[in-house]
Order: sequence, then C-alpha cells, then structure tokens
Amino acid sequence: MSIEQQYVDRHPGSARLYDRAGAVLPSGVTHDSRFLRPFPVYARAASGSRKTDVDGNEYVDYVMGHGALLLGHGYPTVQEAAARQMALGTHYGASHELEIEWAEEVVRLVPSAEVVRFTSSGTEATLMALRLARSFTGRPALLKFERHFHGWHDYVAASSKYAGAAPAGVPEATMETVVICPPTLEAARAAMDSRPDIGAVIVEAAGASSGTLPIPGGFLHGLRKLTEERGALLIMDEVVTGFRWAPGGVQELEGVRPDLTTLAKILAGGFPGGAVAGRRDVMERLAFPAPGATAEKVGHPGTFNANPLSSAAGVACLRTIADGSHQDRARDLAAKLRTGMNGELCRLGIPGFVYGQASEFRVVLGGQALPEHGDYHPRDLPLPLLEAGTPRRASQLVQLALLNRGVHFFGDGGMTSSVHTDGDIADTVAAWGESLAEARDEGAL
Ligand SMILES: Cc1ncc(COP(=O)(O)O)c(C=O)c1O
Repeated sequence: MSIEQQYVDRHPGSARLYDRAGAVLPSGVTHDSRFLRPFPVYARAASGSRKTDVDGNEYVDYVMGHGALLLGHGYPTVQEAAARQMALGTHYGASHELEIEWAEEVVRLVPSAEVVRFTSSGTEATLMALRLARSFTGRPALLKFERHFHGWHDYVAASSKYAGAAPAGVPEATMETVVICPPTLEAARAAMDSRPDIGAVIVEAAGASSGTLPIPGGFLHGLRKLTEERGALLIMDEVVTGFRWAPGGVQELEGVRPDLTTLAKILAGGFPGGAVAGRRDVMERLAFPAPGATAEKVGHPGTFNANPLSSAAGVACLRTIADGSHQDRARDLAAKLRTGMNGELCRLGIPGFVYGQASEFRVVLGGQALPEHGDYHPRDLPLPLLEAGTPRRASQLVQLALLNRGVHFFGDGGMTSSVHTDGDIADTVAAWGESLAEARDEGAL
C-alpha cells in the first residue's frame, strides 16, 4: 500500500476535521508551515516529548511548539505556575508584579539586555525593534539578509526570492526602506556604502531559518564593528536561539553585544509572548518624556503585552532553564539524533544528510551521499545543497511515512527538548530508516 494511502487509512479523524476546516479556514490551516498534503494531523493532547492526535495515534514530537518548548509539553513547574495564575486572573488590564519578575529574568540571562518591552509575538518584537532603531537613529531604512526570517510584518516579509519586487500585499513604498543582501560582510558593507539612510541591521543570530543556512565565522563581530562605524543599530533576532543555544542565547556564546535583541518562543514558556530587550538609551524611546520635555516617544499599546498567564509561565520557564543544563541535554539528544539519522542514510546509500546546530536538526535529501556518517554543522556542507533543500515530493512522502510511524517533524527538521528520551531518539532513527526505504521504493528518493 502506498505511503499516502496508509496515511489516509490511519488518520480518518484528521481527514474529517480537515474537510470541515476548509469551509472556514483558508487552505484549512492557521499557520503556513502546518499545511501538508493530503491533510495535516489534528492534535488533541500532548505531554513531555509526545503528542496524540484525534485518531489516538501517538507521535514523538519534534515541532515542539515551533521551538517554544525547550522543556517539552506540560513541564510541571511551568504548568503549575500557569494554572495558579489562571485561578487569579488572565488579564488585569493593569500593571502586575509578574511582568517585573519576567523582565528581571530576561535582564539576568541575556547579556545585552538592560531594559525590556514585552509584545505578544516575535513578529511584533522585530517590528518594534525596527521602529525603535528608526526613531533613535533618524534613519528610515533597514538592512536584512537573504532568507533571514523575522516574522511576517511588511518590513521583513521579503526574502531574497522577492528582492526588487514587493511580496503580495506589501506596498512598494515600504520596500523602498528595505535593503536585502547576502549574509557576508562585504555585501553588508557595500549595502551600507550605497544606502547611508540605513539605520538598522537585523540578523538571525545563528544564520537564516533558525540557523539552517550558515553565516560566516566572525560575521556577528564584523557586523557589530560595521554598524558601530556607521552609527546604525545592530538588532540580533534571537526569537529561536534565545534561551535555546544557551541561557543567554547566541550573544552569550559568541560574546557579541547587539544594541537590541528580539525574543519570543521559549521566553513565554509555551504561551504567546515576545520581547525587545537592549540598550537603555534606545529603549528609553518608549518612555514618557518628563513633564515639560518636548521629545516624542515611540508609542506601544498591545492588549496582551505581558499578559499574566504568559508572564507566569515565562518566569517559571526562564528560572528553570537558567543554569544551562536543559540546553545541554537537548543539544546532546539532537546530536545523537543527527548522527543516528546520518547512519541510516549511509546504511541505505541514499544521498542526503542531516545537520544542525544546538538542539535543532534539518534534513536535506538528494544531492550527494555522505562520505561517512557523523554529525554536521551547516558550515561543513556545500551551501548550494543547503539552499536547494529537499525536493517537494520526497519531503512530503518522508514526512507522511514518519507520521505513519509515530514521528512528527517540523517540515524537514525539528527541535529536541530536554525531556526527549534516548528511547525517543532510538524510535525516531528506526522510523527514519524505514521511512527512507519506503520512500525510495516509491521512487521519491
Ligand atoms: C528568527 C525568528 N524571528 C521572528 C519570528 C516570528 O515570531 P512569531 O512567530 O512569534 O511571530 C520567528 C518565528 O518563527 C523566527 O523564527
């Protein structure tokens, strides 16, 4: 029986929900990355490293809340903090102590954070960081790098693919303030030479798409120097890497101090939330001017900023992950997973590789066979192969075959948590080998 037919047979409840969803949700989904043909799985419950769908199938989960769940699903201290807060109130429409505690934890962990402003998402955080930079420098343009992802607002919607033409729904006028170049120091310098109106440079701290495309060694230090020379602000987007690569993110590991940092995901312990953190003098653009002063402030409302539930979960999560042991455990598990999966590719002689940084992994099928199995950093591998990624049909079939065997990847990769087990990794490697063989038998590999 074909992989797709097995999938359809195993997931009748998800198929029914997807039919229903199509009537009220465009393409039946609520996040582009959840779209999957013939239909996605519909989850009903989750605990630890696993989740269950509406048909009762269990999965080892590597989506992990799109990277928000370093501690897995329902980690006791986080869940208890949220439940306690739920009973006390979900929205006071007033200042509250937990938002101060939450900001104090961010300042304690993130080296460049002096002051914090909470938002409801990472997208809002990058929007606010760019606005602060414009206000502080008086320069309207920003520099971003090809394929670096910073959410979905107008200023960051374009990746290299769209350079020169605005993405659907984004005004051309907006794009006049957006400069995009390859992630090299030479390109960044040339862009800043030609556009003195660039007041902000925004970069994904570990490389494009959560670190799946590398940035050159020394790039962040070079950008720091370049922006200082040009009087522009450096915004390090640590929405994914923050609290995951290390308690203080990539900036702690690399010893680079950006002017502003954007955070989300792990920040809020699995609840919605984001933040901009950084230099006091820049962040003070949000402050109300002293009586009689004429300075204009950057406005920032937001109904769910520092929502009490997110604050409670965020404080509990950040306190739990502060010593770095959860990051270490998740990283070790991801390395084991990458090595095991590469072993299966070698055993089967299927071209492709699994690579990654910290506790994330990404699969590229096709291209070339690995000379030997092991673990790979993106800088070890040919960039054109990483950029090409896995052909669509192979990607879809392998994902379906894995789901049939109880493994849920986040597209062509995923992230481990600190509560995944060695057993989860062994089950996943076995399912991966069987899925590859099956996809090859269908002519997809
Ligand atoms: C690096 C990066 N920045 C910003 C965002 C946007 O965050 P959110 O999805 O919370 O809006 C994401 C989302 O995945 C991201 O990976």
